[in-house]
Amino acid sequence: VRALEFRDGSLRLLDQRRLPHEIIWIECRDYVTVAEAIRTLSVRGAPAIGLAAAYGVVLAAQTARDGSTFREDVSKAMEVLARTRPTAVNLFYALGRMRAAVESHAGEPPEELTRHLRAEADAMMEADQAANQAMTAFGASLIPDGAGVLTHCNTGALVSSVLGTALGAIRVAHEQGKSVHVWVDETRPLLQGARLTTWELQQLGIPFTLITDNMAAHFMARGKVDLAMVGADRIAANGDTANKIGTYGVAVLARAHELPFYVVAPTSTVDLTIPSGEAITIEERRPEEVMSFGGVPVSPPNITVANPAFDVTPARLISGIVTEGGIATDPYAPRLSEHVRAGAGVPAR
Ligand code: MRU
Repeated sequence: VRALEFRDGSLRLLDQRRLPHEIIWIECRDYVTVAEAIRTLSVRGAPAIGLAAAYGVVLAAQTARDGSTFREDVSKAMEVLARTRPTAVNLFYALGRMRAAVESHAGEPPEELTRHLRAEADAMMEADQAANQAMTAFGASLIPDGAGVLTHCNTGALVSSVLGTALGAIRVAHEQGKSVHVWVDETRPLLQGARLTTWELQQLGIPFTLITDNMAAHFMARGKVDLAMVGADRIAANGDTANKIGTYGVAVLARAHELPFYVVAPTSTVDLTIPSGEAITIEERRPEEVMSFGGVPVSPPNITVANPAFDVTPARLISGIVTEGGIATDPYAPRLSEHVRAGAGVPAR
């Protein structure tokens, strides 16, 4: 499974809207196609969104041939890409690094700047691969042999350069020979759990059970779940974590059943510029996503609907935040900033 690859001057994205029924690659030759793919969730998951945006900027540079408008063309592409989805901070982290690359080579000709931008996007891809390897190994160490692990949304190879985050940790635990059973929340309204997590687990041969989101409490109460492990779209300096809508509910349930609740994410998802989760912008998506199930309308038309795509889990409900820098526990603020400093460096945003 690979979410994205840059080859022969174009970005190929595995169309996640069509999974698991069809394997279709979207060939992006311009940044507008990349922006549309991010907006419509053809490419999704915080790290993959950031990487796709970085290569979107490379495409903008490649097509902005006219030296006199090169900088304007590239910065317009960055603005358009920045407006696609507001919550996953990896998008802004990646665009910040691309902007810094342009600024630190100001005055160089377009071909040179394009080369630097490509190198910066490739460097982020490589850093993400290294972060995936490290954080999934740390995450796997939290999963005991024989564990039932509940997860929400999709956090496997589809969300990043290689292994993913929480699901990557579960995969590593399985590959270490531990017996693991995954309880997969279907993840309404867009069913990332039912469509994507099951698909990844099936290919990996990891035992799992798909449940609807409202079944999690039932299986926790019956002793089937030993811990919950999820990814993140933005982690504030104090550890408050935005992730797919429904994650907060899982954390509350885990606490009620005295189960550990872990977050796994690279340091590119940590936003030290905001003190707490209150400052996280939550994406509101189209009502039709809630009014339908798998594309089939289920509610009467013209009703009032709320559709926040993410919620914020307060740090006090989180047992540990795993990054490529290790396992941070409460108090999160000093530990997360150590991870960021030791990892990707202080992010340019
Ligand atoms: O709306 P999505 O599908 O992009 O949301 C994805 C999630 O919420 C994931 O759990 C999150 O990005 C963490 S996985 C890196």
